[in-house]
Order: sequence, then C-alpha cells, then structure tokens
Amino acid sequence: MSQDRFLALPKLELPNSSGHVSVTAPSNIALVKYWGKESVQIPKNASISFTLKECLTKTSLHYKPIEIMGEQSKRTVDDVSFEVYVSGVLKPEFGTKIQIFFQRIRPYLPWIYCFDWRIETDNSFPHGSGIASSASGFAALAGALMQLEGTWSQEEQSEKWLYEKTSFLARLGSGSAARSISGPLMYWGYHPNLPKSNNLFAVALTQNLSQVFLDYHDTILLVDKGQKAVSSSVGHNLMHDHPFSSQRFVQAQHHIERLLGILNSGDLEAFCDLVETEALTLHAMMMTSKPSYILLKPNTLAVIERVRAYRKDCQIPVCFTLDAGANVHLLYPSACASKVLPWIKEELSFFCENGQYIEDKVGTGLEII
Ligand code: PMV
Repeated sequence: MSQDRFLALPKLELPNSSGHVSVTAPSNIALVKYWGKESVQIPKNASISFTLKECLTKTSLHYKPIEIMGEQSKRTVDDVSFEVYVSGVLKPEFGTKIQIFFQRIRPYLPWIYCFDWRIETDNSFPHGSGIASSASGFAALAGALMQLEGTWSQEEQSEKWLYEKTSFLARLGSGSAARSISGPLMYWGYHPNLPKSNNLFAVALTQNLSQVFLDYHDTILLVDKGQKAVSSSVGHNLMHDHPFSSQRFVQAQHHIERLLGILNSGDLEAFCDLVETEALTLHAMMMTSKPSYILLKPNTLAVIERVRAYRKDCQIPVCFTLDAGANVHLLYPSACASKVLPWIKEELSFFCENGQYIEDKVGTGLEII
C-alpha cells in the first residue's frame, strides 16, 4: 500500500470567496491498544477499537482565499495561516501541533496554503475531563478538509477512497484519530488476519461480527480530570528502548487474532479477559518504561476491584478498559444496561471527580453537518 494514492488531486477548482464546512467526529476506545510507533505515525502493531457516539468534537472550518485578503498575508513559506478557537476562545497553545499536522499533510492537500483558516472547535465531553480530544479533534479536522477537497474536485472520487484518505490524514495528526472516521469497530495497522489492513489508514470491521457488539455500551468514569503527567507522544517514544517492547508487539498481534475470534463468537467472558489484559498491559508498559511513570490513580484501582467483584458475584459481563490516563471505560452489552447503570450510579460514581461519568456507546464515526 503506497501513500502516493493520496497525493494531490490534479483537477481542483478552488473558490475565490470565503466559506466554511462543519463536521462532527467521535472519540474511540481501543480494545487492543496501539502503543509504540515509528516515524511518522506508523504503528508497531495492529489495534482494534470501538468508535464512540457521544464523545464528539464538532469543528467548523472557515476558509478565506489569501488573494482576497487585501493585506500582507501572515503566511510564511512553511507555515499555514490559521487560528484555533475552542468553545469560542482563541487557543494559540494548540498552534504547534496543528502546524505540524498541516506540514505533514501538505503533499496530499497542497491547497491548504492558498487560504487563511479559522478552526472553531467544541467538544461534547467536559473540557479537561481527561478524555483525549486529539483523536476526535484530528478526525474532525481531516474530515472537514476532505469535505472541501471533495466539493472542489472536478473528478468524482469513490466514497471508499474519501474515507481512506480522511483516515490517512487524521493519522498524521494523531495515530488513534485514524480509527475515528467510521465504525462501529475499526482496525488500523497491518495484521495478516485482517483483510486490507495496513499502517496508513484504518478500516471498518464489519464482517464476522456478533450482533452483541453492535450496540455495546461504554460508560466512562471520570476518575481524574487533570492533565496527564506524561503525554502520549512521550509515552510512545519511551517504547523505543523499552526492555519488553518487542514481546509486547508480538503479544498485541496475538491478541488481535484472539479478539477476532471473540468478536465473531460473542464469547463475552473471553472478551472481558482479553480487554482487561490489554488495558493493564498498556499501563504495565508505562510503569516499566525508563523513566517509569504511573497514570493510574487510587480510585482507578478501587473501580477495577469492584468491577471484577461485581462480574463474579452477579455473572454480568461488564469489564473495564483504560486509555493513557486514570479514567475507566466500562464496557458491557446493552442487554445489561438496566442493571449496570444503577450499579454505576450507586457504587462507582463515588470514585469519580464530582461524581461525573459519561454514558456512551458505540457509534458510526464522522458526520458532515
Ligand atoms: O493517538 P495517540 O498517538 O495519542 O496514541 C494513543 C494511544 C492509546 O490511546 C493509548 C491507545 C490506542 O490505541 O488508542
């Protein structure tokens, strides 16, 4: 698979007036985790995730052709001219990450240099909730840009190619963003058992899927809403000289194979076992990095213990997974929601900051509004 298939389209008619496009993109939660990469955003192992439905970024992307500015453009040769607003507030601190993204996508969307951009973005989940907005944020930005390219192209592109290029671009902003484009399950990274799997973009997992996973619930317990002590990019980098990384990458590929069987059979006991192993392995890799670090909090562990006890005592297949942070994602089939939700409220909300949790479930990905 070559990235050349996403290079600049030859026949584009760029507008000479301003306009905007708006999209929403969800966050996603990995079941088999991506942790460790090569440059640029090439994963060391394949990953599979649930696309979420309620944790969304909404982005309105405003463009203004540089020619009609009537003033000296702020643009330099290398920089794209843009401003980012989050919930209406100008956020210059996001500038560097987005500028890097723009430079990475330049060969694929060279016209981004022909406009001044205003990126207006809002998250549906509480600000600073510890839920990473980079996956939904870059998926939304890539989706908005691709919507423009599709509109301005003089040649009809297939929907499949548009999705693939959107995922490809989103990946260049944040690896996991590649998986937020579609749903309900997505895979990214080469694995011999995953058809069309590759390291450049994510693919929707639609075949051999038990019905039970099509409306799975994810209730996110906001155990700690603070800023992470160690960022994901630093964490990925620490996998380079990690004593266990090569075994981890092999293990992840085996876990993909096992998960595919489970997703097919609907064996929820095996699902809980595998998903929890993956979550704890991700954090074990962090704890054994050099320097080591711990993102889990005492309340994360308190929740984990209660989830395991509840599953055993009540024989209800609810399990936990974790992202690179202290919050806990509780995964369970919709048929169990009437029992699990009151239990979360009564027994687990106590461990959340301000008693806060988000009721989410699997979703279908990017939407143009
Ligand atoms: O997308 P990044 O580069 O921020 O990496 C995030 C990786 C995890 O969220 C921890 C796991 C995953 O597969 O989503």
